[in-house]
Amino acid sequence: MKHLLKMLDLTSAEVIDILNLADQLKYEQKHGIPHKILEGKSLGLIFEKASTRTRVSFEVGMYQLGGQPIFLTSKDMQIGRGEPVQDTARVLSRYLDGIMIRTFEQKEVEDLANYGSIPIINGLTDFCHPCQILADLMTIREFKGKLDGLKMCFIGDGNNMMNSLIVGALKTGMSIAVACPEGYEPHPDVLAFAKEYGDKFSMFRTPREAVVDADVVITDVWASMGQEGEAEKRKKAFDGYQVNAELMALAKPDAMVQHCLPAHRGEEITEDVFEAHADEIFEEAENRLHAQKAVMVRCLGDDK
Ligand code: CP
Ligand code: NVA
Repeated sequence: MKHLLKMLDLTSAEVIDILNLADQLKYEQKHGIPHKILEGKSLGLIFEKASTRTRVSFEVGMYQLGGQPIFLTSKDMQIGRGEPVQDTARVLSRYLDGIMIRTFEQKEVEDLANYGSIPIINGLTDFCHPCQILADLMTIREFKGKLDGLKMCFIGDGNNMMNSLIVGALKTGMSIAVACPEGYEPHPDVLAFAKEYGDKFSMFRTPREAVVDADVVITDVWASMGQEGEAEKRKKAFDGYQVNAELMALAKPDAMVQHCLPAHRGEEITEDVFEAHADEIFEEAENRLHAQKAVMVRCLGDDK
């Protein structure tokens, strides 16, 4: 695997391979078995948006793999003053062994990959969040013992999370039903991809229709990073798109809940549902570390 730019680029076999390696690395870390697979390597972490989980899990993950993470905020880099991404990519390729970038436009990530000569890992764009989805799939498989044949349900905005979950679920044999208000649908490229999977993908206007018999229910904030100015408008648009006890009653009795975090209790999810599923949600947060270590090994490792 050269890069991780978006879930659409991965084959089903590559997704499963990352999940298997993530499980192995998690086991090794829990049992004190060192795995300094990336000794001597450096990974730049470029952040153009805020982060808690992504930053810390990449930094700690790179350290555990024997490598060096370098935290870079765009506001402290020349890229933040207008230096073209094409030049930044070619310069950083001469120092680093890989770059993780969190930014707005997917094109910026693709440009880094096209102009640079080192692996690029997408740490979230407006279009997708592949690292998060790999951790989500890892967590679902951990709790349910399998992915194939399960039903995922996503309630809310057709944002980076919904886009990536649709692709990730379908590539691993799950079916997925989503519910979103008019005007907040997933990206057309994702809808085109999902079309190939027939009735394994379905899109509804009401959460009640989407959640029926779901094995896993997922939601995300109504206003993503960069959309803070639309928060009030979005609160109105997403009225009724809350994951609450009444909605969960329509899912399978043993349905699990995932949330990439940060969560807005009382908006997209109620406090009681969040707390009832806190073990699953915080395991998901932990699994960012293990899944991303697997991604780093596959992208930066010598035996890729
Ligand atoms: N879920 C996630 O990506 O969290 P951060 O924004 O804290 O990195
Ligand atoms: N959709 C959210 C995810 C945060 C991890 C955002 O883009 O802000």
